Amino acid sequence: MDNIKDILTKYDKSGPRYTSYPPATHFTDSYTSENYKKSLIESNSTDPKNISIYIHIPFCKDRCFFCGCNAFAKKTDDFETRYVDAILTEIENVGALVDCDRIVTQIHWGGGTPNSIDFDLIEKIFLKINDIFSIAEDCEIAMECNPADLNEDKIKRLAEFGINRVSLGIQDLREDVLEVVNRRPPTYPVDELVQKLKAAGIKEVNIDLIYGLPLQTVESFNKTIDEIIKISPDRLVTFSYAHVPWVMKAQTHLEKIGLPTPEEKMTMLISSHSKLTSTSYEAIGMDHYAKAGDPLEVALKNKQLHRNFQGYCTTQTTGQVYAFGCSGISQLTHAYIQNVKTPQQYIDKIEETGFATARGYELSKDERICRTVINEVMCNLYLDFDAVAEEFGVSAEYVKGLTEFSEEKLHSFINDGLLSIDGNIITISKEGAFIVRNIAMCFDPKLKHDRSQYSRTV
Ligand SMILES: C[S@@+](CC[C@H](N)C(=O)[O-])C[C@H]1O[C@@H](n2cnc3c(N)ncnc32)[C@H](O)[C@@H]1O
Ligand code: SF4
Repeated sequence: MDNIKDILTKYDKSGPRYTSYPPATHFTDSYTSENYKKSLIESNSTDPKNISIYIHIPFCKDRCFFCGCNAFAKKTDDFETRYVDAILTEIENVGALVDCDRIVTQIHWGGGTPNSIDFDLIEKIFLKINDIFSIAEDCEIAMECNPADLNEDKIKRLAEFGINRVSLGIQDLREDVLEVVNRRPPTYPVDELVQKLKAAGIKEVNIDLIYGLPLQTVESFNKTIDEIIKISPDRLVTFSYAHVPWVMKAQTHLEKIGLPTPEEKMTMLISSHSKLTSTSYEAIGMDHYAKAGDPLEVALKNKQLHRNFQGYCTTQTTGQVYAFGCSGISQLTHAYIQNVKTPQQYIDKIEETGFATARGYELSKDERICRTVINEVMCNLYLDFDAVAEEFGVSAEYVKGLTEFSEEKLHSFINDGLLSIDGNIITISKEGAFIVRNIAMCFDPKLKHDRSQYSRTV
């Protein structure tokens, strides 16, 4: 089967995105701050040794109606200062338990909109991180930025902080699309903005787009893609608009305006994919793109692509993730730990106890094996049962048993040319990448029948 539309239609069903395994829906509140402290100490003696830091800044000037992130409309400057002070405390407390000779290879600022707060507060956090941790020379320091909150002065300061990758939430180039989703336009035309960031010394610029928003048509989204190709960001993501109004109430506004049909959405995905991959971009997964030679593209070729909650990364640079701020998820080798959700809860918990754990999950060795299998499928489109078995000191048969592998379950994918099996090696084709979540589900022993809580594949 080589018609992508037929493939997507046949396999379109909801399921986990596998940004983690087990998915965050399995985290429980019986995992507490005390467990986190133990996990922090344990993380010093587990691989990978290097450290990734995630900082969550949940504030935005206004909330976009489509947003699925943990974001809150700005309150007061004082409140933001208290929030940042709580982050400084959390960094100190985690730093006291983590071996700070371990090298930090990634710092990622997400949100919300980190660039919407006072830049002196951002500087305070950077100073604290530098004070406590050992930062690698070539550390990737990335920030998700709203282009409506950038000006020349802010861009200069981002570069001075050492930020070397900025992800711009562009979403769409049409101002009327931005307007109906309650989003302010960028301060400069996007091509100018990218040039300004590069001229300031920020080497890498990514762009986020969303397809499936009101007013978007297949034609208009194609036009946006053509313009973006000319702007030539280093990386690009075309997110499928995840419509979950039962969780995100503001999304009901978009239903009232009218959303593109699933059929139109599918065409937007396929046509943007074909436009981008016929230029200088390589697909990373279904909807991420990087230029040839980009570390992600090289990692995919070498089957060393990895994924965490912050997005795709390479196995060489990503470390265990230590997250700071509300809703931040730490991803240690043996555990996931998520902080409380709202900034107010976060400030209260940190001020009272020094930690803000809301829930977590400790992984058994068997679960870590399943996680590796699912990561290999999701990221590298390739699974070598023998290699996974060797990594964990077990047999390939044991790994197959754990992941409930059976060739029969994969027959339909094989018949449709989406996957091939050669001995203990499974290879997913480029077309199979479009429904890789569905393939990964076949290796997930925890997946039960009710998938209604998850958004659909496209
Ligand atoms: C934290 S925001 C990026 C930084 C900044 N807040 C902004 O909006 O420009 C992360 C990205 O998630 C994507 N996003 C947010 N809500 C989404 C949804 N419901 N479906 C798909 N993508 C979504 C958007 O592309 C957005 O740029
Ligand atoms: S998309 Fe970005 S700016 Fe809009 S509400 Fe979400 S986090 Fe804030």
